[in-house]
Amino acid sequence: TPRVFSGIQPSGGLTLGNYLGAIKRFVDMQGSGIETIYCVVDMHAITVWQDPDALRRQTRELTAGYLAAGLDPTRSILFNQSQVPEHAQLAWIFNCVARLGWMNRMTQFKDKAGKNAEKASLGLYAYPALMAADILVYHATHVPVGEDQKQHVELTRDIAAKFNHDFKTDFFPMTAPVIEGAATRVMSLRDGSKKMSKSDPSDASRINMTDDADAIAKKIRKAKTDPEPLPESVEGLKDRPEARNLVNIYAALSGDTVADVMAQVGGKPFGEFKPLLADLAVEKLAPISSEMARYMRDPAEIDRILKDGAGRARAIASPVVQKTYEIVGMVGA
Ligand code: TYM
Repeated sequence: TPRVFSGIQPSGGLTLGNYLGAIKRFVDMQGSGIETIYCVVDMHAITVWQDPDALRRQTRELTAGYLAAGLDPTRSILFNQSQVPEHAQLAWIFNCVARLGWMNRMTQFKDKAGKNAEKASLGLYAYPALMAADILVYHATHVPVGEDQKQHVELTRDIAAKFNHDFKTDFFPMTAPVIEGAATRVMSLRDGSKKMSKSDPSDASRINMTDDADAIAKKIRKAKTDPEPLPESVEGLKDRPEARNLVNIYAALSGDTVADVMAQVGGKPFGEFKPLLADLAVEKLAPISSEMARYMRDPAEIDRILKDGAGRARAIASPVVQKTYEIVGMVGA
């Protein structure tokens, strides 16, 4: 049976990019005979400095976001990474499989480390091997992610292939990234050439999942656009990054295809389109933010859900690590 795994870092608030590119798709994959495992990857978050109290709060807040968006802990396994030590155990094995040359090609490391890579943590550099372990410790077959994680899932396949080759086994599966839908790369509302990101210094560049109705509407009203009305058709969006981004957001929120959306709004000036988008965004997002706030009032319940999920995750992960140790030649395994 197919098994889905994905994760999000609790390294700040959730954005509309995380919601449309990841969480909403996690929810859509739930049920229908597939096993779904969703993780709050706190061990990834600490590859850059996190204040301990903030990390605790963000871990619970991200879990609240998962629940508020519709992930159901009885239908999916929801947990935080550090409660399942098998991720770190398998990551060490993969650190010994992955090659320096592979890691040196990772664009996210280059972006995050910036000019002074000497000051980056060793963990930030090794991060993709831990991500491969997250996925492969469950033998996951499908990984729903946004466009920016494609390279990491491809590296996961390289690690699985080299492990299988070196140890003459077919133990690890080839995992497929699932990068589908209208919003696999949601762009900044201030700059159509930049990804919407929780680390952008401008709060106006993103919609946060905790924003209230007024903030959501205001940010959409103020979103950067060019002066032309929307084109008549999908093809006309090609060289219009800001227009394309807002149409993609509309499509992802409504569940319509981009072509359907263009059939409804093509040719409209932004003065007409933006209020439609703002209404739709408020209708879809405001209930999630109020549900999140409700969950956050009961952190003990969140912790209970994470602990229960961790137990179920370990039941899958532990035999995989045991078997891996045995394949590698560890005595006692
Ligand atoms: P992270 O925490 O940066 O982002 C979480 C998810 O949100 C997606 N995303 C976006 N999608 C569309 N538009 C955007 N602007 C946007 N911004 C973020 C990301 O693609 C991602 O799917 N390395 C991962 C976390 C991770 C993981 C894993 C994912 C750790 N282990 C195993 C899958 C499987 C990360 O940093 O995502």
